[in-house]
Amino acid sequence: MTETVTLQVDGKTYQLPLVQGTEGERAIDISRLRAETGLITLDPGYGNTGSCESAITYIDGEQGILRYRGIPIEQFENNPNFVEVAWLLIFGKLPSPAQYDRFSEALTNKANIDESMTHNFQGFPRSAPPMAILSAMINALSCFHPEFRKVDDLDQLEAVAARLISKIRTIAAFAYRRSRGKPIMYPDPKLRYVANFLHMMFSQPYEEYICDEVTQDAINLLLILHADHEQNCSTSTVRMVGSSQANLFTSCASGVSALWGPLHGGANVQVLDMLNRIHKGHMSPEEYVRRAKEKDSSERLMGFGHRVYKNFDPRATVLQRIAERLFEKMNKKDPLLDIARKLEEITLNDSYFLERKLYPNVDFYSGIILRAIGIPTNMFTVIFAIGRLPGWIAHWAEQNGTPNARIARPRQIYTGHPKTDYVSLLKS
Ligand code: ACO
Repeated sequence: MTETVTLQVDGKTYQLPLVQGTEGERAIDISRLRAETGLITLDPGYGNTGSCESAITYIDGEQGILRYRGIPIEQFENNPNFVEVAWLLIFGKLPSPAQYDRFSEALTNKANIDESMTHNFQGFPRSAPPMAILSAMINALSCFHPEFRKVDDLDQLEAVAARLISKIRTIAAFAYRRSRGKPIMYPDPKLRYVANFLHMMFSQPYEEYICDEVTQDAINLLLILHADHEQNCSTSTVRMVGSSQANLFTSCASGVSALWGPLHGGANVQVLDMLNRIHKGHMSPEEYVRRAKEKDSSERLMGFGHRVYKNFDPRATVLQRIAERLFEKMNKKDPLLDIARKLEEITLNDSYFLERKLYPNVDFYSGIILRAIGIPTNMFTVIFAIGRLPGWIAHWAEQNGTPNARIARPRQIYTGHPKTDYVSLLKS
């Protein structure tokens, strides 16, 4: 028998069903609430609202757990392969060798974008933020691939996913080259996913950029750690846009736009700004933390806090290890890493952060790692988008495949003027 909770309102009693997930988390199913009671729920920021049931990613924010299709993310650390994880997220299981080879081959073969699209890059000013270009160009893909405006089966899903995951990297690199006024480097079919991206970013004509294994592993892992995070702002955006049956390219383009904001994917850029300001002596780590704690301060300690994690963000824990490993291998010292460690130490002993459960999040270390690899700051959020794309595709596909899925359409409590008559203030 379905468990229920009782709601009493206006002297009437209603039974609302309880829904339970596979890890025991529970929710009150209010899908018939308005029809039966005339009431809606009010939850600004959706902190208590489950917008869907999903089998892709499990998070326990209290315990700092993150799993993709059941697999804890820490288990990808020793053999990081972004393409394998992308398949896992989209299709629900790890790929067989044959599936993996087929998908990798498609990624290689579909890396180029239509040549007329490459001219579009010239239409943007050199100063254009790469996230704006990325969003516009992913949307433009829907003009060049009308055959994927509807995806009806798994073969089509595989074909469109391979194209998008491959081409996002090409578009991202071309956007960067444009911002530097450098000639476009076309993808090299001999290279694997990450090495090919770095080649398109950093090779020069007749001078190939060679990428070592440690760097490739670090980027693979960084992409994996960003690959999905259930109903975050950008993924919810992709699902919301997709709920109108908008195509995959357009839905993911809107995900890029949502990710751009400084409270979401843009945070690792802000982290680096903050560390740089501290490093340049504008203020000490202690002073920065003091300001971030002030009640009406416009400063926040960037890279700290998370809507869901009220414990260590497990991605930050892995990234911290990668940062240490990368710096050791590169035999490099970075003063910003020392400042980051200092900030972490201060906050872990500060009641303000402990009481509010504010711990380092994924963005806290990702910027430092990307900087060490030589990725320019304006590309940080772009790399995040490349990583998050398999998650967006998985969620779009999950929703697209849900029978009788409804268009997303929240309600509101109106707080404006009561009915007011039109009396023009313009002269007649
Ligand atoms: N520095 C200082 N104080 C903070 C911080 C911070 N980074 N984050 C939250 N707080 C404080 C708030 O001021 C508030 O204090 P109060 O209760 O005294 O008013 C309390 O902690 C709760 O904060 P909310 O804003 O309600 O928390 P919410 O869950 O809405 O926000 C968010 C989460 C946006 C991530 C927030 O912690 C933040 O702005 N962090 C810095 C930006 C950042 O790192 N973003 C990346 C997130 S991870 C990602 O998107 C991949």
